[in-house]
Amino acid sequence: MPVNLSGRSFLKLLDFTPDEIRYLIRLSKQFKNLKLSGTPHKYLEGKNIVLLFEKTSTRTRCSFEVAGYDLGMGVTYLDPGSSQMGKKESIEDTARVLGRMYDGIEYRGFSQELVEELAANAGVPVWNGLTDEFHPTQMIADMLTVEENFPTGIKGLKFVFMGDARNNVANSLMVVCSKLGLHFVACGPEDRMPEEDLVATCRELCEESGGSVTLTPSVEEACTGAHVIYTDIWVSMGEPAELWAERIKLLSPYQVNAEAMALAADDAIFLHCLPSFHDLKTTIGAEIYEKFGLPEMEVTDEVFEGPRSRVFDEAENRMHSIKAIMYATLR
Ligand code: CP
Ligand code: NVA
Repeated sequence: MPVNLSGRSFLKLLDFTPDEIRYLIRLSKQFKNLKLSGTPHKYLEGKNIVLLFEKTSTRTRCSFEVAGYDLGMGVTYLDPGSSQMGKKESIEDTARVLGRMYDGIEYRGFSQELVEELAANAGVPVWNGLTDEFHPTQMIADMLTVEENFPTGIKGLKFVFMGDARNNVANSLMVVCSKLGLHFVACGPEDRMPEEDLVATCRELCEESGGSVTLTPSVEEACTGAHVIYTDIWVSMGEPAELWAERIKLLSPYQVNAEAMALAADDAIFLHCLPSFHDLKTTIGAEIYEKFGLPEMEVTDEVFEGPRSRVFDEAENRMHSIKAIMYATLR
């Protein structure tokens, strides 16, 4: 059956079938080709979108803006301080107002319930630009990047997430791998493993896709033969800075370093959604160094800058895939 996502919101990958996800990856590739060949594609001229950010962003915001302009749309950006939402106006009212003016709404914020509520009331597609639970637009870019590196097929690949395996990115990776038949391994301490319910849901999905979900504290078990090693920061946006001491202690054994990469397959790649603390060139990185003496955190600079790292292709792919998601849902 042909895929039709017109009018749909994009809130979490659990809402989408494997065929729909594969369609979005294919479409992202097509938009990447159009962009790289300089072919104009203002397919959504006359439409307008609004971007609501309650947390900071570089990649997601810029991807929505550039993708919106490339598609010929008008784009409004509202930062955490510059709308009435939440403080003077409920999410429900905000959604009903914005839905009267815009053809689509991007929302980055805290609870998943908020973005679901926005979508339930807006009457136009809502795209989740990251919540505490999920980061679905990131997944289309990540799977596109994996496909570019494993062009014969991604089904059956061993995909390892190292570190804070309970965060939004890890949750979403577990879902997308389970939908597409990859072998997902969460490697970290017991306290930071994904929620049991989500693991159970993903294992059910694996029965159909042929994938699997493994949770392990053993770096050796996880990284041996891995095709993709992925990590993310140890304290996510919205979490208190006081958590750093505890997380450093818990997650340091799960740093992606040369030893971990050496266990992986010969053609393995390293991915990271970014931003990353791989050196001392950030204020938080420098502060952590001063307090805890750690010059690099979730990934060493050697791996981040090394020949297996695909993190900047991955970042670029955010734009192509967000364009695909907007086009598919607004066309
Ligand atoms: N990966 C990602 O979502 O980056 P930003 O926080 O910069 O949007
Ligand atoms: N887990 C990170 C992802 C950033 C893109 C965070 O939520 O801060």
